[in-house]
Amino acid sequence: MSNQSAASANAREIEFWNSAATRQWHEEYSRIDEMFAGLTEYLLTCAAPQPGEYVLDIGCATGTTILGVAPLVGPDGHVTGADISRSSIMRGRDRMAEAGVVNVDLIHDDVTVHEFERGRFDLVISRFGVMFFADPVASFQNIRRAMKPGGRFTAAAWRSPAENVWASAPARVLGDLIPPPVPLGPEEPGQFSWADAARVERILRGAGFSAIAVSQHDPAIRLAGPGDVEGATNLTMSLGPVGRALRGENPPSPEAVRPLLEAYFATIDSPRGILLPGAIWIVQAVA
Ligand SMILES: C[S@@+](CC[C@H](N)C(=O)[O-])C[C@H]1O[C@@H](n2cnc3c(N)ncnc32)[C@H](O)[C@@H]1O
Repeated sequence: MSNQSAASANAREIEFWNSAATRQWHEEYSRIDEMFAGLTEYLLTCAAPQPGEYVLDIGCATGTTILGVAPLVGPDGHVTGADISRSSIMRGRDRMAEAGVVNVDLIHDDVTVHEFERGRFDLVISRFGVMFFADPVASFQNIRRAMKPGGRFTAAAWRSPAENVWASAPARVLGDLIPPPVPLGPEEPGQFSWADAARVERILRGAGFSAIAVSQHDPAIRLAGPGDVEGATNLTMSLGPVGRALRGENPPSPEAVRPLLEAYFATIDSPRGILLPGAIWIVQAVA
């Protein structure tokens, strides 16, 4: 990694995304991808990559969205993914090689400080990779410099935890077993740090973007297939607020958590699978 160091403004997030707490993003990406399949298709439809375009994917992890975009930009286009997680980037490079995709490159670096070629990208996309910057205006200034004037930005970010029932309902079922989440300061990075649309607009405007549009998208989040209460429980215990509590300080015993989650998921099982409401912003802007 060329530009990041312990002294980086994003040091805490760099440590987090390279820790065991986020292992599932590179070890279990296919389950995460299944969970977000509908949303990913919608995000790429909104972003509308065109043949020949140069695209940047922020916080690309193992590159699912890159694999979606690469065929759309075709052999004359190119997709660059950037991520601070070393294991995700390594797994992503393997995935690109396995898929035989050649019009891509994956950079292991912090997009806040990476020295991208100026004016390179026609389009910047992200699936949940933009909420973790300590100084988001500075990060987006750096990203905008890497875009062509008039280049498009399209990203998905979570709205509030309360609206994201897939994350908040299982945590509620566990009651006092898990500590209430430490509330984020209004400017702190984190999974739900883009929940306030006014803040999102402020960040992008501050970084020099225009034509900022923030629209609601409410996909059903599919935690598992029909009858698969064990799968929904495993996923919930590895991601989101419950996953974080289990890997945090004074974690609850997994043996206490599991039966409560299984009993809850059995009550919402349906022929379409185990689904709960998600609440997302689709954020678009022009460089
Ligand atoms: C919630 S995950 C989403 C990953 C992927 N886009 C997906 O949807 O599967 C957030 C990703 O953003 C990456 N990330 C966080 N801060 C970053 C930064 N400053 N520069 C590059 N990547 C970053 C993390 O390492 C992580 O892989």
